[in-house]
Amino acid sequence: MPVEKPQLVAHFAARFAAAPKWVVHAPGRVNLIGEHTDYNGGFVLPLAIDRAIWIALRPRADRRVVVHSIDFDQSGEFSLDALVHDGNGWIEYLKGTAWSLQEAGYRLTGWEGVLAGDVPLGAGLSSSAALEMAAARAFAAVSDLPWDVVAMAKHGQRAENQWVGVNCGIMDQLISAAGRADHALLIDCRSLKKEAVPFPPGVAAVVLDTATRRGLVDSAYNERRAQCEAAARFFGVPALRDVGLEEFARSADGLDDATRRRALHVITENDRTLRAAEAMRRHDVQELGRLMNESHRSLRDDFEVSSEALDAMVECARLHAGCYGARMTGAGFGGCAIALVRSEAADDFVRGAASTYQQRIGLMPAVYVCRAAEGAGVA
Ligand code: GLA
Repeated sequence: MPVEKPQLVAHFAARFAAAPKWVVHAPGRVNLIGEHTDYNGGFVLPLAIDRAIWIALRPRADRRVVVHSIDFDQSGEFSLDALVHDGNGWIEYLKGTAWSLQEAGYRLTGWEGVLAGDVPLGAGLSSSAALEMAAARAFAAVSDLPWDVVAMAKHGQRAENQWVGVNCGIMDQLISAAGRADHALLIDCRSLKKEAVPFPPGVAAVVLDTATRRGLVDSAYNERRAQCEAAARFFGVPALRDVGLEEFARSADGLDDATRRRALHVITENDRTLRAAEAMRRHDVQELGRLMNESHRSLRDDFEVSSEALDAMVECARLHAGCYGARMTGAGFGGCAIALVRSEAADDFVRGAASTYQQRIGLMPAVYVCRAAEGAGVA
């Protein structure tokens, strides 16, 4: 259900008999290339998508946060003076963000509001980062905090790592905070420098949801992180970002087979990501697609985070003549693939890829033709 701002304002008015003081939003994201590189100090190339989480709100005088989620038809509230964990529902992402901001010394003001979104949940399009960044944008508006995208992304990541308990990198929160319309962002996840790279004209980013969800992902994700850290220790560097292909070729034989292949993925993926940004700058979509295909192979065979459904989806996408390249996107094990498709062919591509996938896997995929959108903002 795409959320329209007027609908959200109408919900707010029905609940509070007044107009909201602010309407804030933060988008989901899709990553073009640069997967499992962010927590290795490497490079990523995501775009914020035109699907977001929205919050309409007004201040309260009593330091409480009172929120109604339209999508869950559920209300929640907490006091900023006594933040305590309570299960793992959507409100924990708001609490965790408040916790991180308060830990940093910000004095927050309470608020009440309504929340809705159209980022599919658990699909690998970063609905949780969108919720954290929407919460950060709400707290910044109501408490009059400076909106520094990098600082706010770090608060979102800290909420996710330490409050929610998922050990993610910085990519999702940073692109949700800092996305640029019609651009992808090349992010150096060590320096956190970002460069906006124009999305090639005449090309559509199509997100293909396998309709499978990642099970046991946190343990597999943490295991991959630990293997990458072990490999970095083996090479005697702070992170795999610091290992080049030549050095890898010289000494990787000393690693066990699985750790060696994890490191190989990260090192080659960093290189592909830089080359993909370069290809985008010169509008070389063929090369960009080729690098995305190669990224998928590496994630499937070396990093081993793909799945039967993701592999099938990627193969179905590539069967279409209008497709430049396709790969799984996000953490993996389920969720979405992304394909780059010639814009005029997009409708035909969507029909073809969806029905071939359905015949093969027996599940109906959701398909989103996405536009690169601005990051979090106050509407
Ligand atoms: C998840 C994490 C990100 C990143 C990707 C894999 O989306 O939240 O930080 O590690 O997986 O690239």
